[in-house]
Amino acid sequence: MSTISDVSSLTLIAKTIFGLEELLAAELQKIGARDIEVLNRAVMFTGDKGMIYKSNLTLRTALRILVPIAKFEVSNEQSLYEGIKAINWEEYLDVTDSLAIDTVLSTDIFTHSQFISQKAKDAIVDQFREKYDKRPDVDLDRPTLRINLHIHDTTCSVALDSSGDSLHKRGYRDQTNLAPINEVLAAGLVLLTGWDCKKTLIDPMCGSGTILIEAALIAANIPPGYYRVDYGFMHWKKFLPYEESLYQTIYDAAIARIISETPNILGGELSHHVTRKAKENIKLARVEDIVSIRESDMVDFEVPEGGGIVIMNPPYGERMDKDNLEELYKSIGDTFKKKYTGFDCWLITSNMQALKFVGLRPSRKIPVFNGPLECRFVKYQMYAGTKKYIK
Ligand SMILES: C[S@@+](CC[C@H](N)C(=O)[O-])C[C@H]1O[C@@H](n2cnc3c(N)ncnc32)[C@H](O)[C@@H]1O
Repeated sequence: MSTISDVSSLTLIAKTIFGLEELLAAELQKIGARDIEVLNRAVMFTGDKGMIYKSNLTLRTALRILVPIAKFEVSNEQSLYEGIKAINWEEYLDVTDSLAIDTVLSTDIFTHSQFISQKAKDAIVDQFREKYDKRPDVDLDRPTLRINLHIHDTTCSVALDSSGDSLHKRGYRDQTNLAPINEVLAAGLVLLTGWDCKKTLIDPMCGSGTILIEAALIAANIPPGYYRVDYGFMHWKKFLPYEESLYQTIYDAAIARIISETPNILGGELSHHVTRKAKENIKLARVEDIVSIRESDMVDFEVPEGGGIVIMNPPYGERMDKDNLEELYKSIGDTFKKKYTGFDCWLITSNMQALKFVGLRPSRKIPVFNGPLECRFVKYQMYAGTKKYIK
């Protein structure tokens, strides 16, 4: 099976969350990626080794950067095994290296992704064993090479995963946290609003502070990979071997573009314990000069004059009874009307029933997924001196 010949013009795939594809394409355009093509939950582009480093470090709406190496048809376990074994793995791995395989299934042929990862691993190690009587080890945490299999219907796509851990793991958060919104989604929401990075931004139900921190990173032009010390590509030895000096040059150039002039970014949170967590995260992200948080009920939150933007992720109701939830959404609408004149107020929810209780007419509704939950990201424009927006 033919593999990659021109490493200066690699086909690359950035994976993302449904609804953020166009934003990701725009981000790729900005960093100089070529041949950008929007796919479902992904964007395809071309670039060289430096582009792999740059995209991992700087893209806010990417979950992973993959380097596709092969594609073949599968109908059963045997054809999967044979397809994987037909790839010349010596181009990517030495017998002394280690590997890990992640499988994503969207097919009726197979049901267990872990089993498929095992099968694919067998095919790779058998190829080495037959030649050298030795085999690469499996290392699920820090392998030399992380391989990504995506089986869609009868097509198996094989790619090298240059990211390692998903890029939403920025490295600024204490991971033993509550149930925060995914960082990639939080950044995507901020970008979807078209915020100018000048007006005040408020999340009055900020939880652990993810939306506020991502907004601060955007406003200050801090790359999302600023805090991360490890990427998959840093372990590569044979194919596109890691060049620390190239990464350092790209990192230094990104850091040099950080700006210090930033707008007011404010948060409120009802729970004392959660407010404390949010403050810790803000410190870990080193944005405490930009973001300030108060323990406060949304209805009592002191809103500064001059307008701005609200982005919030209220509870969707999994842990609340229906009456309380309807009451909560009603109070959100009432508070927008009373206190947020001159603001564009955005909220994300999966609960369309509860959303009706906000009682305002949205000017936009953007479909987006929060994990498995289909959500709407909804905008209410709170004009001064008019009641037009009220239903
Ligand atoms: C879905 S969570 C937000 C998660 C957040 N986006 C994050 O990344 O951690 C909703 C938060 O709203 C808070 N909350 C609920 N009712 C509130 C109210 N009336 N005023 C302020 N915060 C409230 C909850 O304590 C919870 O932390």
